[in-house]
Amino acid sequence: MAFKSNQWGALLFAAALVSGLGCSSCSSSRENADNGQKLPTRMDDPNGAAGGNGVGGGSPADDISGNGGANPATGSGGSNPAADAADADGATAANPPKGSSVDPCVAVDPGANKDLIRWPYIQNVTQNALSIAFGSKAPLEYQGLTPPKGTIHVGHAPADTTDIPASVEYLPAGFTNGLWFQQGRVTGLKAGTSYCYAVSIDGKVAAGGFRIKTAPADDAQPVHVVVIGDWGSGQIEEAKIRDLIAVAHREKPFDLFLTTGDNIYGSGTYGEIQTRGFEYYKELWTTIPLYVTHGNHDYGTDQAQPSLRNYILPENAERPEHKERYYYLEWGPLFWLGLDSEDPLDQNFLQHLSPKADRDQQQDRWARRVLEKVKDKFVIAAWHKPAHSTAERGGHPPAAAVFSPVMEKFRVPLVLQGHNHLYERSHPLIGLNITTTKTGGVTYIVTGGGGKSLYDFGPEKEIIPVRVKAYHYMDGLITKCTASFKVIDIDARQIDAFEINRCQ
Ligand SMILES: [Fe+2]
Repeated sequence: MAFKSNQWGALLFAAALVSGLGCSSCSSSRENADNGQKLPTRMDDPNGAAGGNGVGGGSPADDISGNGGANPATGSGGSNPAADAADADGATAANPPKGSSVDPCVAVDPGANKDLIRWPYIQNVTQNALSIAFGSKAPLEYQGLTPPKGTIHVGHAPADTTDIPASVEYLPAGFTNGLWFQQGRVTGLKAGTSYCYAVSIDGKVAAGGFRIKTAPADDAQPVHVVVIGDWGSGQIEEAKIRDLIAVAHREKPFDLFLTTGDNIYGSGTYGEIQTRGFEYYKELWTTIPLYVTHGNHDYGTDQAQPSLRNYILPENAERPEHKERYYYLEWGPLFWLGLDSEDPLDQNFLQHLSPKADRDQQQDRWARRVLEKVKDKFVIAAWHKPAHSTAERGGHPPAAAVFSPVMEKFRVPLVLQGHNHLYERSHPLIGLNITTTKTGGVTYIVTGGGGKSLYDFGPEKEIIPVRVKAYHYMDGLITKCTASFKVIDIDARQIDAFEINRCQ
């Protein structure tokens, strides 16, 4: 990576089981620090791990209708356009035949398998494809060992289940062991449809009975999202917020799990990602697709390589070295634009200072090209370092200089940010002028209270009328016209609630 350093410095298993939607045929019965070794990259994986196992990949084109996935036009990302092109009708010549000895709807407790140190999790879900990853324990000295053979099973019953061989690579995962990181991408699925899944290791089912749903076929239903920022601390507050989210998920399942960065403290190492991220949220992430944005702490190790390799995000950024650093996804009426306020923004900002520079390949130009194609969706943009903040250490001027003009140009009604460990909501703004959503104003939120020690506020500003120093998460319901959020603190109290209507 040719990046410069930053210049600016018991909800448990039961909850996971009940959290899925539908799946009428599912059975109701239920039976850690980096070691400094040189790691194989995804490209080293003979199975093309970036996009899965060669049976599928991202959307057939980097277009707005495609919803995530790799961009075959760039020749990277491990996608399989031929398979995806035929996804709508299910099995294709590129897909493995259906029929399995495994019933993916039969519950198998991942907690009962000591080798399964990372429970299965759902990533990069489109209308007809999704990725599933999981990890089994590996010794620190793994060279020369034969990796386990993982298999992913997706369907409703053995007769209609597809078995996907998982790719495997070694990743560090803690002080005492590594991780055989296994993943596969399942294609040929139907939009807005529930499926069961299970995973096997060396022919034995290690976890199963999870229910997942592909992206909706249309915009009719509201999207239910949970948002946290600055959360992977390993502190008790992280667990308490997690438990509140689990309760809310049990009452009304979340469709998407979104973050505003600084996902892992102190410096986003492989080991910290496992012990402060996946260990805390393993139950919820078995069924809620996770989409992170990256913060400065995530960039703290090898320019965020541990994050890029553990989270499987849409690869629709154009520059190969920027893939998964920023991306977009569509989910029913929601268009989520996950931007990167770290090194890609730093590069962007330097370009702003040099007006004659060729900026076409910069992040903000990419965002403009993407947003130009969005039709009649509720757009939420997210990044880590806030454009505006009344926290003691203030906002991040490059974000205001580079990202805000894009938001204003395309009338993005809502921006979610992190970095400052507190909660803030601005008035709708154009520049520093208070206006309305109707006139194109952008509402900026800082949601940085997911579990890391809180910050103090500085002086009040008129542009930010709501601010609370509290651990919290955000619970939102998105339709084509509205985003309705409530903000819940660590004592389950509602500290803010708002609705933004872009159609009025
Ligand atoms: Fe941060």
